[in-house]
Amino acid sequence: MPEGSAPGSWASLLRSHIAEWDRRVADACRTCGVDGVVVFSGAAKYRHRDDLEYPFFADPYFKAWAPNAYPDSALKIVPGETPVLAWLQHEDFWHMPAPEPSGFWAECLEIRSVSKKGDLLKALDGVSQLAGIGEEAQEAMGLASVNDRKMLTHLDYHRAYKTRYEVACIEEANRVAAPGHAATGEALAGQPSEFELNGIYCRSSGQRESSLPYQSIVALNRHAAILHYQNLDSQPPERFRSFLLDAGGDHNGYASDITRTWTSPGDPFADLIASLDVLQQTICEEARSGVSFISLHDRAHRLLAEVLADHGIIRCSADEGYQRGLTRVFLPHGLGHLLGLQVHDAGGRLESPDGAERMPPSEHPFLRLTRTLEPGFVVTIEPGLYFIPALLNEVRNGPLRSAVNWETVERWQPYGGIRIEDNVLVTETGSRNLTRPALERCGIA
Ligand code: GLY
Ligand code: MN
Ligand code: MN
Repeated sequence: MPEGSAPGSWASLLRSHIAEWDRRVADACRTCGVDGVVVFSGAAKYRHRDDLEYPFFADPYFKAWAPNAYPDSALKIVPGETPVLAWLQHEDFWHMPAPEPSGFWAECLEIRSVSKKGDLLKALDGVSQLAGIGEEAQEAMGLASVNDRKMLTHLDYHRAYKTRYEVACIEEANRVAAPGHAATGEALAGQPSEFELNGIYCRSSGQRESSLPYQSIVALNRHAAILHYQNLDSQPPERFRSFLLDAGGDHNGYASDITRTWTSPGDPFADLIASLDVLQQTICEEARSGVSFISLHDRAHRLLAEVLADHGIIRCSADEGYQRGLTRVFLPHGLGHLLGLQVHDAGGRLESPDGAERMPPSEHPFLRLTRTLEPGFVVTIEPGLYFIPALLNEVRNGPLRSAVNWETVERWQPYGGIRIEDNVLVTETGSRNLTRPALERCGIA
């Protein structure tokens, strides 16, 4: 039974979820002049001139109905009818074949098996009036359309409104990740390497690397200033200063996306982390229905200017720091994004289901979410404060040079930076943090 959700089993939550997606597909089909959709799960991909496969990730739209990863499968969704899953059941002594679909989700679908991939569409009884979705959808299959942009943007626009099933999945994905964050925090006293910390995270959250929703960012010291740091040093640093872990979990194909930053007990860097934590919680509170995410992002910059002034990182007032754009040097990425079937869930810039987009302000080009928040949205709130050499060098050589306290900056540069990231559900009356309760259960305040 999903914890923290209204009464209901996973099966009943999924049934209502499928009914909601059925309505969305019906609307999209009316707009696009088709009777339904065929969603392909995707196929195994091979390395160039090799027989080794990349890890398989099912198509996000497919996972909305069928959470388990079934390569070479397809779903037929005709509004008003039970969704049909055609899956490939074949003998393979090299690999573990996909198991017979079973469990709560299989009960919501009509299941048909085929023994040859080529028979997949035959099992779906006629697709000429259906829109194909997915990388495997091909013109030659006789579908009414293939990845029609109108169809996809319609579905993406509505994906922002999470069903109760989806919220329960994301909440559970937070519970999956939480023990991993706690275990890495506890391990820091032993001065581990990034490689060891990555292993601890996977083991403690019960995930192998290829099943993570995204590659974890496991960054010690200066590496925390590299926003998407992708390496794993196998040597521990000579001296531990800081640790940034951006790592999530998966449940039924839905993601969590969590970041915490650590330092040693008693290290003065802890005060800076604490100030960013206060800022982050303020913004989480303010993530309410009716609030434009662009203004929330802007509000985070105003608050960050205060943190920079209070900690003597800038020499000018907070207001001047904000007005002159100094905060963008210390926080060059967006405040957050939609979260769900994808870590960066599609549709964050859609103004309407017809595909019109609202682009971010030119001074904040990396903001992925420009919509006004509404009940049901699940977003990340992930402010940061980084000491990024390339950006600082530009300031050092430019007109804002005297507005920065270089002595303080140099003191913190070996710590890299800070990011604190939670997953937040916007409700009718406010917001609900899906991450903090999960972390608190594992001893992270
Ligand atoms: N983990 C990537 C992000 O926070 O957006
Ligand atoms: Mn994120
Ligand atoms: Mn993240």
